[in-house]
Amino acid sequence: MSDQDRLDNNVDEPTGTEFVGHEWDGIRELNTPLPRWWLWTFYASIAWSAVYVVLYPAWPLVKQATEGTLGWSSRGELVDEMNAADLARQGTFERIAATDISQLSADPELMGQAIAGGAAAFKQHCVQCHGAGAAGYEEYGYPNLNDDDWIWGGQLEEIEYTLTHGIRWDGSDDTRISFMPAFGGMFDADQVDALVSHVQSLSDSGAANASGAQLFSANCAVCHQAGGEGDQAQGAPALNDAIWLYGNSKANIRQQILYPRHGAMPGWSDKLDPVTIRMLAAYVHSRGGGEVTQIDPEEVDEPAQVAVAERSDGRR
Ligand code: HEC
Ligand code: HEC
Repeated sequence: MSDQDRLDNNVDEPTGTEFVGHEWDGIRELNTPLPRWWLWTFYASIAWSAVYVVLYPAWPLVKQATEGTLGWSSRGELVDEMNAADLARQGTFERIAATDISQLSADPELMGQAIAGGAAAFKQHCVQCHGAGAAGYEEYGYPNLNDDDWIWGGQLEEIEYTLTHGIRWDGSDDTRISFMPAFGGMFDADQVDALVSHVQSLSDSGAANASGAQLFSANCAVCHQAGGEGDQAQGAPALNDAIWLYGNSKANIRQQILYPRHGAMPGWSDKLDPVTIRMLAAYVHSRGGGEVTQIDPEEVDEPAQVAVAERSDGRR
């Protein structure tokens, strides 16, 4: 067969398939049909997309996409999921709200749920100051919450109070408040040095100093107590242990005597609901050093009633 004959022949002999009709340098394209399985898959996906466009949101319009006859939306799905989670939590929330905080640890299961809820809220609201492990930042005045050294009190209800009203926070009239005076104008340099030595000696990290001890009992013991035990009612930290807000070097202590910092924490009552605050208190209390409630029914009842009153005005 000549070349011309082959070109005229519109069928590829070995395969029996027709040519499309193009030719480049003697190479010709066969018109091979699409495999049947491929075609059917293709038609099926066209049919599926047609159905999908009718049922679900599909075509973007100016403001939103076409809605679809099922009324589904990703936002709606999220809302449904959140409602379901809320319902599941609600029971726990209500029980925590209804339990006097000083009695919370008497119900280990509920306490466990409160601690878990508090741990989650802590990650969101507290780590930027107290650190991910709640160990705080010594020398910067962000206290470690894992130890059993409490500035303002470590019983569940005391922690709840601290969280609700904050520390030196102008958002609450009931905030934890006290101010260490600046003693700069009051003592000369030698007196300050003597005081610094005495403060260090309280935690066995410096030599005893008689004149420092005298100045301390006259000026400082009213808040920090004679032996530096501290006083939670005034938020005066203990000075006789190894735990420091601002550090225990001579320079750190001198700094505090001359220019007290007056560390502040915002209260959480305007950001968080009372149950979340209660769960946070449970979490902080669980971090190693929470104190057990002292039995004094009069005092114990009070914070619980405050919490109930706040709940009844519509907040959970
Ligand atoms: C903006 C920084 C900041 C944030 C955020 C913050 N804190 Fe504090 N927190 C402080 C400071 C500063 C103090 C110490 C104040 C002082 O000198 O008495 C403190 C003290 C506390 C105390 C008192 C400790 C004691 O020994 O009595 C507790 C409890 C506490 N924080 C828990 C929390 C929890 C729970 C959160 C999250 C809801 C939180 N904090 C978020 C700065 C912060
Ligand atoms: C009115 C109560 C009050 C008096 C009086 C007072 N302090 Fe304080 N002191 C505090 C408070 C409250 C803090 C908490 C720190 C802050 O945020 O300022 C503090 C903190 C300190 C600290 C830092 C502790 C740490 O953990 O880092 C030192 C040191 C200290 N005081 C020493 C003294 C000395 C020395 C005197 C006497 C010359 C004195 N204070 C008098 C209330 C008092």
